[in-house]
Amino acid sequence: MTLLDIFPSLRSAMSPRLDPAVWPINTHHDEHGRITVGGVALSDVADQYGTPSYVIDELDVRHRCRTYREIFPEAEIAYAGKALMTRALASWVSQEGLALDVCSAGELTIALSAGVDPRRIIMHGNAKTPAELTAAIDAGVGRIVIDSYTEIVVLGSALDHKQDVLVRVTPDIDVHGHRAVRTGVADQKFGFPIDHGQADAAIKRVLDQPHLNLIGLHCHLGSQITDPEHFGAAVHRMIAQMAQVYHDHGLILTELNLGGGHAVSYGFDDVPLDLTQLASTVEDALDEACARHRFPRPKITLEPGRAIVARSGVTVYRVVSVKHIEGGRTFVCVDGGMSDNPRVCLYAARYSVALANRHPVGAQVPVTVAGRHCESGDELAVDVPLPADVRPGDVLAIPGTGAYHHGLASSYNSVGRPPIIAVCNGSARELIRRETIDDLLRRESSL
Ligand SMILES: Cc1ncc(COP(=O)(O)O)c(C=O)c1O
Repeated sequence: MTLLDIFPSLRSAMSPRLDPAVWPINTHHDEHGRITVGGVALSDVADQYGTPSYVIDELDVRHRCRTYREIFPEAEIAYAGKALMTRALASWVSQEGLALDVCSAGELTIALSAGVDPRRIIMHGNAKTPAELTAAIDAGVGRIVIDSYTEIVVLGSALDHKQDVLVRVTPDIDVHGHRAVRTGVADQKFGFPIDHGQADAAIKRVLDQPHLNLIGLHCHLGSQITDPEHFGAAVHRMIAQMAQVYHDHGLILTELNLGGGHAVSYGFDDVPLDLTQLASTVEDALDEACARHRFPRPKITLEPGRAIVARSGVTVYRVVSVKHIEGGRTFVCVDGGMSDNPRVCLYAARYSVALANRHPVGAQVPVTVAGRHCESGDELAVDVPLPADVRPGDVLAIPGTGAYHHGLASSYNSVGRPPIIAVCNGSARELIRRETIDDLLRRESSL
């Protein structure tokens, strides 16, 4: 029996537990009961930079990069910049020894301006424009991942020197797990299906181009994949395909890029992908597949995005109003919403919410945290517990918002996009400032 069992009233004197699976590693409560991340109180961020603001814990990002490198010492880890791309992010991950995957000329420009070595950049995209391919060539990117027959011709004719390329194939592996997004199956826009010989045809066309130096194959199975066996199955299919290339063309491909999609927990019943299990599954699959096909082990590349930054990010909001609907729900309305977090509407994503600016007292009640936008579906979290006395002016924090939030944000209702504030060792600095109404007006022509 614990003290809490004997004196249940003590519970209200305690700060609620912050799930370490969801919050950045450097999250605590201070002596006032405020939530701090990276040694900075989130309510201080709200006061100084306004709300909503995205907060990113630099040491958490670096820690995740190091964990990947420790667990996969032989593999190349390429951070998928689409998850969150700023110059600071690009430089942190590069300093931690990661390569970088970009999927547009914009992401490429940010990476280059952060000083990332272009040879460590991998260029993706199912519809790269000729201008983007030229930008990639001019920058000297290390590898371009080819994703269409048109690209083979456009890239081949734009080059006057050899360019290392991979071909993106779909191994037809359905990762239909809990909340997973599937891109490894044949009938979708990415990659060349292995079945029906489309991958073979693309590979042949690449080999016919004198300036395309085919060094490997790429696949990306989807997002939020929880079961490592899917990656094991992908290794088997991809090595079989690489052996087929050797059989048909006498070429030994030396790189196998298995993409990203490693699941993280957002709380509730989400199960993260166990990276140690992933390492041993990939290792075993490589041993078996290479032995079966008498094919030399290729170098493995992994491209995690979400698993590097999702948990490093927290969004802070200010409560604007609290509305109790007779016979209905209690809505806690905040000053952000679907413009800074479209994932709830897009993917039915679920988030937890915490009171960040004070020690909560009294009972917790179930509420809906609603956004400020003119859509009834603009709800950030449904049926989440918050203190019954939550009131206008309070600061709420939503963890797990580091990946695919800033990048997917819009200025819906002419609400400018939030700033990104990096926190580290007790200090905060603005990585990206808030988008203002002047920014939005500047895009309009004069009357
Ligand atoms: C080619 C490729 N690599 C890596 C990723 C990163 O995925 P995640 O953030 O789920 O790890 C994506 C995401 O769409 C992708 O398309």
